[in-house]
Amino acid sequence: MELSAVTLNGFTYVVALIGGLIWLGLSWKKKKKPYLPPGPPGWPLVGNVLELRGWKQSFQQYVHKLHKLYGPIITLRLGSRPLIIVASHEFAYEALIHKGSIFADRPAVKGGRKLFTHNQTSINSAAYGPFWRTLRRNLVSETLSASSLKSFRKGREWGIEVLMNRLRNEAEQGSGLVKLIDHLRHAAFCTLLYMCFGARLEEKIVRDVECIQRDVILRAGKTQADDIFPVLGFVFRKRWKRLQGMRQRQMEILGELINRRRAVLAEGMAGECRAYIDTLLCLTVEGGRGLNDAELVTLCSEFLNAGTDTTSTTLQWAMANLVKDEGVQSRLYEEIVNVVGKERAVEEEDVSRMVYLEALVKETLRRHPPGHLVLMHAVTEASTVGGYDVPANAMINFSVREMGNDPRVWENPNEFRPDRFLCDDVDLTGIREIKLMPFGVGRRICPGIGLAMMHVQLVVARLVQKFVWESKPGEPVDLAEVEEFTVVMKNPLHAVMKQRD
Ligand code: HEM
Repeated sequence: MELSAVTLNGFTYVVALIGGLIWLGLSWKKKKKPYLPPGPPGWPLVGNVLELRGWKQSFQQYVHKLHKLYGPIITLRLGSRPLIIVASHEFAYEALIHKGSIFADRPAVKGGRKLFTHNQTSINSAAYGPFWRTLRRNLVSETLSASSLKSFRKGREWGIEVLMNRLRNEAEQGSGLVKLIDHLRHAAFCTLLYMCFGARLEEKIVRDVECIQRDVILRAGKTQADDIFPVLGFVFRKRWKRLQGMRQRQMEILGELINRRRAVLAEGMAGECRAYIDTLLCLTVEGGRGLNDAELVTLCSEFLNAGTDTTSTTLQWAMANLVKDEGVQSRLYEEIVNVVGKERAVEEEDVSRMVYLEALVKETLRRHPPGHLVLMHAVTEASTVGGYDVPANAMINFSVREMGNDPRVWENPNEFRPDRFLCDDVDLTGIREIKLMPFGVGRRICPGIGLAMMHVQLVVARLVQKFVWESKPGEPVDLAEVEEFTVVMKNPLHAVMKQRD
């Protein structure tokens, strides 16, 4: 997800080379050469980093080409460290399930991301160990368990209400024409904000939080040259200053919401749901201490950002395919009418009885996973995958997109056919076998999988129950991709929505 954003202009190219030399000089040790998976030769000292400069496409497209050339497991070199990328279902299963504990760590975070993960105290960036385990267990059991999710129903309803109002307003101004992505993102954000802080917040505050979180995701979520070669930090002083300002603003805005909630809790007025922040405020971590303010802000920020773009991107892709294929849309509407009818709105409990809806969302995640790779994993001890050596200092990632498109597993993989999931109950957690892994699998699997599936299915069902969706006249849906924080539609979906009778 993140690597494609490495930006090297001519100047940084030279500095990267010098940085690489210094870095290698410091870390060079003579070792027996391991039998690594194949890959492009790269440059001495800096490995393949300089090749990235020539990318005309995204990092994922580059990886796709390398898989075609070298096979389902490849090695790249970032500075002195090997990065192994796995596109085979079997090898991914071997690494993430059979040898799960060896491949569950995260690499050290450097540069801007260090600031926003507050030295790796967010769940996604934390090293595999007791601190990570406490935070993750808290999130899963206190906020994302099936029973906790039920208590946030009002938050989801708020999100959908906001979505419908915004869509109707835009449609009224443009004879039914709407651009969906901004509204889908805003609705997902409202739902997560409610779960995080336990209340519907005023519009102005929602806007402020959304704005800073968007900045963080787009500017600080990207890996830059100084993240790979920390010695280059001095070159990027300006960027660093900007990021510090952004972090301060984030601390103020989210800090204010945390303090508000503290006051509400102190008065015993928490209301009917136990918000994520409530669980964090009474959590004890390693050393018997509570979390400090910077850690609280980091964890709330992660909660908001991890779920917003991923779910809204998935929703946009699902709606794009529904607009593109009238047959699929009619089939879904038929299921909605059979299970729920036309009068009553689809509720969360109905979703589990809609097999075609689930198949449609799984097919969306197969064809258009929001991340073509998962987050970077680090290897804690020397091991093997697919018969190749994986050294202890290596990083490893998994080509989600390649696996979802593998013709050995998926018949006509380029076709969008939800039906394929009707006769094959594919388990997204990959415990039995891995067929596709848009949420990752194993110890680092996305803890938001249940919430995300529920949110996406409910929103798609509501949108199709209320409206017929058609493409903008003279402008067929374009499924071209571009990479932002997630892989989004290059030309965002504009569609005409018509109220059903
Ligand atoms: C369609 C929606 C989503 C997709 C496709 C998705 C995908 C992923 C992926 C691929 C990972 C990395 C797995 C790995 O490194 O092996 C991940 C991690 C994570 N996700 Fe999600 N995610 C989604 C929604 C959510 C939501 C709604 C939340 C919570 C509110 C969430 C919270 C997290 C967290 C905290 C991690 C880090 C887990 C760890 O490192 O232990 N995600 N997600």
